[in-house]
Amino acid sequence: MAKIEVLPLEAGLPFGARVRGITGETLADPSVGKQLKSVFEDRGVIVFENVEPTSQMQLMISEVFGPLKEHPVKTVERVDREKMPGVITIRTGPEAGIVEIDGKPLATWQPWHFDHSYNNELNRAGVLRAETVAKEGGLTGFCDGIQVYRDMDPAIRAKIEGKNLLYNLDLRYSQQRFGLPKNFRELRGKGEELARYAKTLPNAVHPAVWTCKSGEKVLHMSPYGCRGIEGMEEAEAYALASEVWEEVERVMQTYYHRWHPTDMLIWDNWRTLHKACGCDPAMDRVMHRTTIKGDYGLGRWQTAPTQNAAAGDAMAMS
Ligand SMILES: [Fe+2]
Repeated sequence: MAKIEVLPLEAGLPFGARVRGITGETLADPSVGKQLKSVFEDRGVIVFENVEPTSQMQLMISEVFGPLKEHPVKTVERVDREKMPGVITIRTGPEAGIVEIDGKPLATWQPWHFDHSYNNELNRAGVLRAETVAKEGGLTGFCDGIQVYRDMDPAIRAKIEGKNLLYNLDLRYSQQRFGLPKNFRELRGKGEELARYAKTLPNAVHPAVWTCKSGEKVLHMSPYGCRGIEGMEEAEAYALASEVWEEVERVMQTYYHRWHPTDMLIWDNWRTLHKACGCDPAMDRVMHRTTIKGDYGLGRWQTAPTQNAAAGDAMAMS
């Protein structure tokens, strides 16, 4: 039986694992796949260290956790459209959005979020690797909804438990009503075209708290693309969402991954949130990402989508 090494991600952190010893050979052992799935369920984030830095290896690792979800947006850059359509590219450059935080411009920055919140389905996981590591910055942050739920002020938690949040694909920061850093401004917008498309989509609805298979409760909300709370008047909904989000940020334990070319990282998209810290727009930073299919079955559209919207069913812009 092939041996891999499983270590805590960071001392004192209640989520995350570090795995060493992943090769084509160890992955060929079905007991390794089983062990990795169990670590993933238990810890929510896995950093694979010292793996072969290729798209083939990224696909091999990804496929342990489930089938890939192909990106339906044709214009999104792929590593190899013919041979590896499931691997997309995220890079700094003229297409990337730029924001400014405390006077510092940052390319490819994104606030805390889970992927596909604007969709009725939530992909199971994402797998990232750094094809080109930024010389400085470019970290990816993670936090765990199980830890956040457990550590929140129970009085604030009670206000959001049972509520459903609304999300939309219009991810422009000008539309985001809470959860942006102080001293934030957008220098180069992304997604005007996406915003036009988003107008054709209904909001997606996801519970703020859900219970996973293990019986643990997960606080799962994101300010990114949030359009309020189902059944609540707008001002009241944003006031509550902001109050809860402030509490989430107060208690969250975070892990920020500094990339090495031989790392790969998987996160549970049903349980964790992630954040892209961005880097100097002049720096080269290229990430490759795969998306693992799946659904937790608790999301839905607020109203029936049109035919046009159905075409965007599996959009994965982040
Ligand atoms: Fe994302």
